[in-house]
Amino acid sequence: MFKKIRYRLLFSYIVVLASILVIFAIAVRIYFQSSLARATREELIALGEGAAASAKFENNQVLFENEFPIKEITANHRALQWFDTQGNLIYQQGIDTINLRVSFTDKEQIQAGKNPVQSVTLPILGNEDGKLIGYVRVSKSLKEINELLSILDLGLGGGIILSLLLSSLGGVYLTAQAMQPIEESFQRLKQFTADASHELRSPLMAIKSNARVALKYPDGMREGDTEKFQDIISATNQMTCLTEDLLFLARNDKNPHHKKESVNLTKILENLVQLYKPQAEAKEIKLICELSENIELLGDSGELKRLFTNLIENALHYTLSSGEIKIKTSHVNSYILVEIQDTGVGIAPENLNKVFERFWRGDNSRSYHSGSSGLGLSIASAIAQSHGGLITVSSQLGVGSCFGVSLLAKVVT
Ligand SMILES: Nc1ncnc2c1ncn2[C@@H]1O[C@H](COP(=O)(O)OP(=O)(O)OP(=O)(O)O)[C@@H](O)[C@H]1O
Ligand SMILES: [Mg+2]
Repeated sequence: MFKKIRYRLLFSYIVVLASILVIFAIAVRIYFQSSLARATREELIALGEGAAASAKFENNQVLFENEFPIKEITANHRALQWFDTQGNLIYQQGIDTINLRVSFTDKEQIQAGKNPVQSVTLPILGNEDGKLIGYVRVSKSLKEINELLSILDLGLGGGIILSLLLSSLGGVYLTAQAMQPIEESFQRLKQFTADASHELRSPLMAIKSNARVALKYPDGMREGDTEKFQDIISATNQMTCLTEDLLFLARNDKNPHHKKESVNLTKILENLVQLYKPQAEAKEIKLICELSENIELLGDSGELKRLFTNLIENALHYTLSSGEIKIKTSHVNSYILVEIQDTGVGIAPENLNKVFERFWRGDNSRSYHSGSSGLGLSIASAIAQSHGGLITVSSQLGVGSCFGVSLLAKVVT
């Protein structure tokens, strides 16, 4: 149980941490990318303004001032293009140039060949009259920036994976530390239940034997005392059953592995059917048996007897007279399936997953089974689990219930 809680805690912790790291990585990526784009744009605008100021147009040709460092500007994957006022290309310098007419609707980032290119287009105005004489477009290949971003992606991705791995290791330690006090107090609670149940045995036995002695020698008793003593014995029997059930569950929680001897399940079921036949007949319930011969499995015969006793008793308690109870066995792969089907009062769909909870009793149990404690199915389920199996239930209100017990079959060598 605690293992499951630990795994769930660890999983939630990792999911939360992973979400935070991914959000952080996306934020870093977006900020870095937009900073690079802004810096590139500013760089291109500065270059474009320089290029626009140092160029003159004469006879459809661009003339540069002597000191204009065109070669240096067009290094590092940058390109310069000059256009006339109609947008026709007049001159260009650089490798990653854009083969498009100029227009102010130009997107700032376009694909030129293999690489994306960022560009800025600026108007060139005449020195004297300020009239538009052409355009200059400065562009830069984003190959290097994209390579930089890929390295950043790799770094962020690797960082997230590494931090998740390290945090998982830390998480395992932390969840173990957090669960330890809870586990300890749960163990103490179980120990207390076991001790209390054990300690209650002797006083209950004493009450019962004293009441029996009193009943054996009724001389001097007042009228009605006999009934009172009988009530005491019946209440003591009930309490003894409850303490035995609690003790069993507490011990089973502590050590769920039991002895494994070869058990003949068919014999156990046949004996139980013989035992409960008079009770069924008294209630006019038809007890039908469809048992395979000599079913063998490895387990604890006493516990298996207890498991099926609880199920058969339930079927008898919660089936009205002239009903029917069928006990059937079958083989399903490496499991033996025992089905106990009744035509009883049934269980409401919303209560189906509650019936195996400790001390849970349906409203029907109060009217059909007054001495019930609500531990019978918890014990049956614990026994089935310690035998490598489980119990399932299907039921319909007013129609009946079917409890299926699957147990690991004995491997024949
Ligand atoms: N065959 C059945 N038909 C209808 N309801 C059932 C059947 N078996 C169990 N239940 C319901 O499930 C509840 C839990 O069953 P469980 O055997 O654990 O407790 P109980 O029978 O009430 O008490 P006890 O501890 O004496 O067995 C019952 O109170 C009853 O409401
Ligand atoms: Mg019961």
